[in-house]
Amino acid sequence: MIEIRNLHKSYGAQPVIRGIDLTITKGEVLCLIGASGSGKSTLLQCINGLEPIDSGQILVDGIEVHARGTNINQLRQKLGLVFQQYNAFPHLTALENVALAPRIVKGMSRAQARELAREHLAYVGLGDKVDAKPARLSGGQQQRLAIARALAMAPDYMLFDEVTSALDPELVGEVLDTIRKLKARGLTLIMVTHDIGFARESADRVAFFDQGHICEIGAARQVICEPREERTRQFLQRVLS
Ligand SMILES: Nc1ncnc2c1ncn2[C@@H]1O[C@H](COP(=O)(O)OP(=O)(O)OP(=O)(O)O)[C@@H](O)[C@H]1O
Ligand SMILES: [Mg+2]
Repeated sequence: MIEIRNLHKSYGAQPVIRGIDLTITKGEVLCLIGASGSGKSTLLQCINGLEPIDSGQILVDGIEVHARGTNINQLRQKLGLVFQQYNAFPHLTALENVALAPRIVKGMSRAQARELAREHLAYVGLGDKVDAKPARLSGGQQQRLAIARALAMAPDYMLFDEVTSALDPELVGEVLDTIRKLKARGLTLIMVTHDIGFARESADRVAFFDQGHICEIGAARQVICEPREERTRQFLQRVLS
């Protein structure tokens, strides 16, 4: 479970997260939607401990992310993070990209890590691309490679930040299918997305961000089809028209 309590964060003098309370339970799929600059990516980076916070708390399975004594590298192994920009190492093959962290961070043998990488690449539909360098992969394939890399660390939570926004429309489906498989497997997913249709179909809950607050949160269909807040309605009207 991830618990966020009265979280505040600024960049310099600019408040970006202004009092967020949020609990995400095991196995849940939560989509974060909202205007550009409303703080969605910042929240993911705070959960992952990549960004310091000003006040409040984030607890992952009871461990406080920003507490002094927390072993953040160990905690991060629970939290797979996939960004919009593909971040594979260009000089390594797909297999080597996936095998790297299990070898270095988990201390697996080379053979074990390669076997694991093969499994995960097959899982995301890249079984025939193990020897390809990232530059030879399509955007959708690179994004699935990034998912395989995160999965190889056996995380309990996956954080996705607009993983389909840079893709050509015909490649979006294959990435979303992979994410649906993760949901079916019971992983807890927190996804920032502009794909309102995907959020409606695949999320359990949707949170609408507005200027550093969660303006509205609820069952996906309720928030998207019958928003209670005027600001949610306006946002949806804008992005769906
Ligand atoms: N590293 C940074 N340094 C300073 N300001 C930042 C930094 N990262 C983000 N910001 C600012 O914080 C605010 C929130 O940014 P954030 O990236 O969290 O928004 P977002 O909701 O993810 O937007 P988008 O939909 O465009 O990705 C923005 O005003 C942004 O300019
Ligand atoms: Mg963002």
